[in-house]
Amino acid sequence: MKIAIGADHAGYRLKDVVVPFLESLGHEIQDFGWHNEQSVDYPDFAQQVCNQVVAGEVERGILICGTGIGMSIAANKIPGIRCALTHDLFSAKATREHNDTNVLALGERVIGPGVAQEIIRVWLETPFSEGERHIGRIGKVKSLEDKYSTHP
Ligand code: RB5
Repeated sequence: MKIAIGADHAGYRLKDVVVPFLESLGHEIQDFGWHNEQSVDYPDFAQQVCNQVVAGEVERGILICGTGIGMSIAANKIPGIRCALTHDLFSAKATREHNDTNVLALGERVIGPGVAQEIIRVWLETPFSEGERHIGRIGKVKSLEDKYSTHP
């Protein structure tokens, strides 16, 4: 699977563990940085990763900041993105089955690399359930996106 990944200064260490992990699973990774402790702004990385997802250049995106919260807020502003901030295995599975999320946000300051890797593995492996009720609800989310979008 093609996957884009991005992090800020508070998430790059976890990203640098996650990238080789993903490659060892056979995934093709586009790494948009960041690469050191110099302070940067998480929305810039959310935008780069999410653009790739929306453009269909990659199937999924992974975003890491200190908490995962800023990244998830920024990502969910972008039409076509369904981003889940997920720090447990139950939610990682459920958000694929129910929400068909295409971006995963993680917080380096919240969980360790072992848990993060298992969350990522489950999130990547779990298919969308495609139940009628889930499709309908995702459609309603899309309607909200359309209704409140300021751009055509
Ligand atoms: C950076 O200090 C931190 O605010 C950022 O990584 C993230 O946690 C924001 O939500």
